[in-house]
Amino acid sequence: MNKFYITTPIFYVNDKPHIGHAFTLVLADVTARYHRSLGEETFLLTGTDEHGAKIARAAERQGEEPQQFTDRVSATFSELAKILNVSNNEFIRTTDQEIHWPGVFKIWEAIKASGDIYESEYEGLYCVGHEAFMKKSDLQDGVCPDHQTKPEKIKEKNYFFKLSKYKKRIKEAYVSGAIMVKPASRANEVLAMLEDSEDVSFSRPRKDLEWGIAVPGDDAQTIYVWADALTNYLSAMGYGRNEDWQKWWPADTHVIGKDILRFHGIIWPAMLLSAGLELPKSLLVHGFITVENQKMSKTIGNVIDPVELVKKYGVDPVRYYLLREIPSTEDGDFSYKKLEDRYNGDLANNLGNLVSRVAKLIETKLEGELNFDGKFFDKEVRQKIEEAEQKYRRAVEEFRLHEALTHIWDLFGFANAHIDSHKPWEADQEGSHLLRTITSIVAIIVSGSRWLEPFLPETVEKISNTFGNNLRAYDVLRLAGQKFIVTKIEPLFPRLK
Ligand code: MSP
Repeated sequence: MNKFYITTPIFYVNDKPHIGHAFTLVLADVTARYHRSLGEETFLLTGTDEHGAKIARAAERQGEEPQQFTDRVSATFSELAKILNVSNNEFIRTTDQEIHWPGVFKIWEAIKASGDIYESEYEGLYCVGHEAFMKKSDLQDGVCPDHQTKPEKIKEKNYFFKLSKYKKRIKEAYVSGAIMVKPASRANEVLAMLEDSEDVSFSRPRKDLEWGIAVPGDDAQTIYVWADALTNYLSAMGYGRNEDWQKWWPADTHVIGKDILRFHGIIWPAMLLSAGLELPKSLLVHGFITVENQKMSKTIGNVIDPVELVKKYGVDPVRYYLLREIPSTEDGDFSYKKLEDRYNGDLANNLGNLVSRVAKLIETKLEGELNFDGKFFDKEVRQKIEEAEQKYRRAVEEFRLHEALTHIWDLFGFANAHIDSHKPWEADQEGSHLLRTITSIVAIIVSGSRWLEPFLPETVEKISNTFGNNLRAYDVLRLAGQKFIVTKIEPLFPRLK
């Protein structure tokens, strides 16, 4: 059996989750569920990034001990994954000394053994928001454009990682496609960033930053938070503790936002090469969500809490919105109006109506039971399904999840129109007209459900319950003899209050 190992970034716990975090999680979850649906042994990893100056200061502002603070905020992220129905197999925390730390020690030692760690006196501008040194040219009027804060001038002795040694091999990995980047435009961005990449500071003096993992063999230094964090992808799988990671490594995919491309696209591959480990096979890079066309910010007060959204609209409408309205690889915008339009239009009117119309027809015209007979399965409809499936699969594999949904909904739209034009409720014609229409539409619902399961698992379960069948397990070409028994009809998407 093929394995598929996919990760989300681990989330900073300086604050509770917002809708951007939900977006990353849901994109990774759909990809993971899709690979499970192909029969691959899939592992989805997520978790929290809990060390560093940003977190230490947030804890201080709250008047809490860092461990107590990170325990509390980390729980809001694991809760979010549950609320969003994310199928992660593990939730890793970088403060976990048993699970995570041994991996960090091991990779540090491996990098050191390659001769790639050296001491240096360093002077630079550190942005706590990015947890990274910035170049003067990255700043606008001396301020970090992403965080609107002035970076701190730091002059200190620390350890450096000889990233420059690996630039050529990293470049080759992108050019040869050994690391695939989707969308391809982001690969060009990595290559451009690689050109002016230099060695990176890999530790901070412990007296200035206590909240982190001490450098092995030098208690006076704390390991750079990104070196610590990136290693989660290995430590969670056993690296440093046992040999299980060998089964899963290299990762098949790291799902990341565009803001952390440099860390995953350059620093991480360099660390892996230095430690003699294989490179991840692909990076799926998504864009940023704005709210009513503005950057989300506490000062503006427009931060959207995904937990509140799920409470109000339900989990699948929120998943649907994120996956359909925000193009997977581009920036997108959130607004309540657009969410409600999608809910009423695509979900309630299109899919919801389709399912209830067909269920009612089976209930009223066929005494609640359809025995699927291939001879009533319209050829034209069958071809439509096959075409839609090809488009759907291509879109998912290209990480254009929003397009995959469009193809499914085109088919549902076709099904509704097919019912309108064929009017199966009109008494006929010895019943075959009715059976022909219902059979074809049921075939569409079965196929659509199967494709939809990675996106809207709860909805597919509800559709399955409506027809007394586990629809996602069915292959549309092998439906002969299956019974569809309608016992209860409940609206999939109740009217919004
Ligand atoms: N801790 C680092 C990642 C370390 S991975 C080894 C980090 N954390 S984060 O919490 O700031 O971001 C986590 C993910 O959320 C990133 O993929 C980031 O791109 C994503 N998003 C944060 N804000 C976002 C939006 N407004 N919109 C979409 N995604 C955004 O970076």
